[in-house]
Amino acid sequence: MPGDHHWHEQIGIHSMCGIVGLFTGCSALTYCPRRALTPTGTRTNGQDAPPKSGKTEEAGGPGEPSYTSPFSRWDERAAVRRSPRRVLDDSDSPTSRYFSPDLVPVARHRLVTGLRPELFDEILVQHLYRYLDFTAKLETVVVNRTVLGIATGSVGIGLPEDMRFDAYKIYCDEAYHALFSVDLMRQVREATGIRPLLPEQPYFLRRLAEIQESLPPEERPLAELLFVTVSETLISASLAELPADGTVLPAVRESIRDHSADEGRHHAYFAMFLRYLWASLDPAGRRAAALLVPRLITAFLQPDRDAIRGELLAYGLGRDDAEQVLAEVYDEETVATHTRATAKRTLHYFTALDVLDDPRAKEEFHAYGLL
Ligand SMILES: [Fe+2]
Ligand SMILES: [Fe+2]
Repeated sequence: MPGDHHWHEQIGIHSMCGIVGLFTGCSALTYCPRRALTPTGTRTNGQDAPPKSGKTEEAGGPGEPSYTSPFSRWDERAAVRRSPRRVLDDSDSPTSRYFSPDLVPVARHRLVTGLRPELFDEILVQHLYRYLDFTAKLETVVVNRTVLGIATGSVGIGLPEDMRFDAYKIYCDEAYHALFSVDLMRQVREATGIRPLLPEQPYFLRRLAEIQESLPPEERPLAELLFVTVSETLISASLAELPADGTVLPAVRESIRDHSADEGRHHAYFAMFLRYLWASLDPAGRRAAALLVPRLITAFLQPDRDAIRGELLAYGLGRDDAEQVLAEVYDEETVATHTRATAKRTLHYFTALDVLDDPRAKEEFHAYGLL
C-alpha cells in the first residue's frame, strides 16, 4: 500500500466515461448542480447510474476515470481520530509568536512599525484570527455543502460507491477543522485579550458570490463545485509553510500541521473527483468550466485587501497610507508569483484535461497571471 503522499501520482488520466448519474427532486441541498451538469436528467432517486459500458467504474477501464481511495487508513490517520486538542500552554516561550512574521509582510512595513512598535505582535494575532475565520467558513459554508452532495449522490455525477462513502470522511475532517479553528481563536482571544477585527465575510466568500451572480443561473452550481475542487487542491500547498517556523507557538503550528495532513488526502481525492466531474460535462459545460477556473483560483488565493485595509485604519493609519502599504506589500507581481507557485498542481490537473486547447480559456488563464 503506497503512502498517502503518493496517491496523486496514481491518478490515471483517461478520457471521458459515460456519466449518467442524475435524478430530480433533490431535497438534501439548497442547490443542485445536477441541472447544470445534466440538463436532460430524469432519474428518480439518489442512486448512481451504471456506466454506459456496464462495467463498474471502479474497474477504471480504458476511457473511464478510476478511483483509488486515499482514505484506506483514515481511522488511524485523520486528525479527528488521532490528534489531541491543541491547547495554548502557560509554559510556552514568551517570545513565541502567534503567526509566522514571514507570512505577514504588512507587520513589517515602515508605515506600520512607525505607528507603534507593539503593533507588530497584534498584527500577527489578527492575521491568525483572519486565517482561522477563513478556514472555519470555508469548511462549513462552502466545502461541506458540496461534500454532503457528493456523499448523498445529489451532485448529479456518477461516482463509485467508495468515493461517495469517503466523502463522509471528508465531511468529518472539515467539520473538525472548523471546530479546532474556532477553538484556537477563542483560546488566543482569552490569552491575549485582543479582540478579533474580522470582516463580515472573508474575501473569498464575497468574490465567489460575485462570480456566481455574474453567471447564468444554470452555471452557478457548477461554479461552486469547481470552486471546491480548486480550493481542495490548493489548500495543502497554502498550509505547507507555517508548521516549519519554530518561532510560532506549538498549538498554532500543530493545528496547521493536523490540517495539512488531512488536506493531503483531500487533495488526492479531489484531483480524482475532477476527472469524474469532467467526464460528466458536455463540450459546452467544459468550456464554461475552463473559463471559470482562473477566477476561482484567484478568488481563493488573493490576499483579503479589504480586511487588511480595515485593520490598518482601525490602528489609526490614514487612508492614503493604508493604500500605500497594501500597494507595496501586495504589488501585482508579488501576488501573481505567489498565485502561480501555489496553484502549480491545480493548474496541472486542468491543463491535463486539455482546457488550454480552447483559445478563450488560454487567454483567461493568461489574464489572471496563471500562465
Ligand atoms: Fe480542511
Ligand atoms: Fe479539505
